[in-house]
Amino acid sequence: MDQKVFIFDTTLRDGEQVPGCKLNTKEKLELALKLEALGVDIIEAGFPISSPGDFESVTQISKHIKNATVCGLSRAVQKDIEVAGASLKYAARPRIHTGIGTSDYHIKAKFNATREEILQRAVQAVTWAKNFVDDVEFYAEDAGRTDNEYLAQVIEAVIRAGATVVNIPDTTGYCLPHQYGEKIAFLKNNVPNIDKAIISCHCHNDLGLATANSIAGAIAGARQIECTINGLGERAGNTSLEEVVMVLKQHKHLGLYTDINTPMLNPISREVSDVMRVPVQVNKAIVGANAFSHSSGIHQDGFLKDSLTYEIINPEEVGAEGSRIVLTARSGRSALAHRFHKLGYEFNRNDIDVLYESFLQVADRKKEIEEEDLHQLAKAYKPEL
Ligand code: KIV
Ligand code: ZN
Repeated sequence: MDQKVFIFDTTLRDGEQVPGCKLNTKEKLELALKLEALGVDIIEAGFPISSPGDFESVTQISKHIKNATVCGLSRAVQKDIEVAGASLKYAARPRIHTGIGTSDYHIKAKFNATREEILQRAVQAVTWAKNFVDDVEFYAEDAGRTDNEYLAQVIEAVIRAGATVVNIPDTTGYCLPHQYGEKIAFLKNNVPNIDKAIISCHCHNDLGLATANSIAGAIAGARQIECTINGLGERAGNTSLEEVVMVLKQHKHLGLYTDINTPMLNPISREVSDVMRVPVQVNKAIVGANAFSHSSGIHQDGFLKDSLTYEIINPEEVGAEGSRIVLTARSGRSALAHRFHKLGYEFNRNDIDVLYESFLQVADRKKEIEEEDLHQLAKAYKPEL
């Protein structure tokens, strides 16, 4: 039987950490309602202790979200956890996400502590959080660079303390996909109580590997992926929600699925881009303006014969406007004939041969041929049209 991968959206927390992306409570609540409609399982609504405004946002989201779990972030600090617990008081399904750095970089530089002390603080944090909610997620920050044996000890200890989800962040986006997958497999094989918790992937994109790493983690047994719309997040960003969802949908043989309503992917991508004022790069997978555009002659000819030759996803499946045949100086005759046909001109093969020569002259001068250019070419060729 296929297994579900829970989608944990952190657009409102890790995504909102991006400079310039800060949202007010109204904006956060509106986006949270859209994320719930999209079908995300967990909404990380914010970091309640970070500011009174964020506390209010998490409180309001907790009051209005009925189906998704609402999650608040905290450090492994008693006050943080108390404030997170208070902000989640009204949530139908509250979760506290608490944790601490476990790599030697973090243990030495951030905490000036020992591995043993960090393990105690991790357990203590989960124990505190359990006083407020049943559902406690523990994050081992910088797990990507944490020694696997030590990571396994920490994860076993927090599960014994009651953690329901264990998050294995590749905080610095350092791992290669096979390394991240092996890390998850190592935990599956070496943590005695691992089946009592869900393993979560939280990957950053510093080397452009966040999606690949998250998928490698899921293949190795993780059943929650943490991600953001448009891949927004600290530095080079987080795993992009639309990418992991469509990878799992395209590769059904993996036996993994999500409950995401995929036709909402492009509309929500635009909304997040607008409200956070971060444009989506044109070549972004799934939601970029060029994700379904074809501009070279070889591709256009194949696509016009059968769209499957150059498109693995039907644009409607992800709520995109549709495939586009873009005319440039690299386009061929079939694309030109197709665009003329769409404008209502019926030219035969000989006509197209002649028109193509004039088209190339204009196309060499311009980046892209517009409808108006085509009308002019048609009229110049046959003034009676
Ligand atoms: O990247 C990270 O490690 C985080 C944690 C706070 C989960 O965002
Ligand atoms: Zn992160």
